[in-house]
Amino acid sequence: MSTPDNTRIAVIIGSVRKGRFGPVIANWFTDRVREYGGVDIDLIDLAEHPLPTSLTEPDETTAASAAALAERLGAADGFVLITPEYNHSYPASVKAAIDWTGVPWQAKPVAFVGYGGHGGGARAVEHLRCVFAEVHAVTVREALMLRFPWTLFDEQGQLVRPDAVEANTKDLLDQLTWWAAALREAKATRPYAA
Ligand SMILES: Cc1cc2nc3c(=O)[nH]c(=O)nc-3n(C[C@H](O)[C@H](O)[C@H](O)COP(=O)(O)O)c2cc1C
Repeated sequence: MSTPDNTRIAVIIGSVRKGRFGPVIANWFTDRVREYGGVDIDLIDLAEHPLPTSLTEPDETTAASAAALAERLGAADGFVLITPEYNHSYPASVKAAIDWTGVPWQAKPVAFVGYGGHGGGARAVEHLRCVFAEVHAVTVREALMLRFPWTLFDEQGQLVRPDAVEANTKDLLDQLTWWAAALREAKATRPYAA
């Protein structure tokens, strides 16, 4: 049930490529957040927000898309970024989403669900911690890393062994919601000094 006290979390699908696995993980994770409770979720798919891939002038479509994305990010108290690892880092779509918005991330927590092959998303996540510091976001210590995730989910998009990530997921959500509530309260009494 939604109440004004609920923490508003945006779960962001970072991968935009055709045939991507990201939505399977995002759908499972949003169900897990619903079970956790006390949270309103906005599932943001970056594939629905086309952005320029460099800081050249946007056209009408990409400018409107960036503004709509910034508004949705702005409404959130915190974020979970579902990010794959590409060539030992994070996707260009994620970088564009940060570069073209900036302010809505400020003084808010970002937690990560990383995934990939042998890297399991760890390098994407660690690189993103540096990037998010620059837009004044705080990154949550606990992160979920899924190696070869297509072997971890069944055809219904359910984890085959949910117990393997249960404690990790709970710790991530405990830390994310703690930061989100703490920073929301702090900003209500004292504007963040950016
Ligand atoms: C261009 C490209 C580069 C990749 N590089 C890595 C890598 O460096 N490390 C890794 O663990 N997995 C790597 N992978 C595997 C992806 O992380 C994996 O396929 C993942 O499912 C991609 O997410 P997506 O399907 O949601 O786009 C790469 C995949 C692609 C397409």
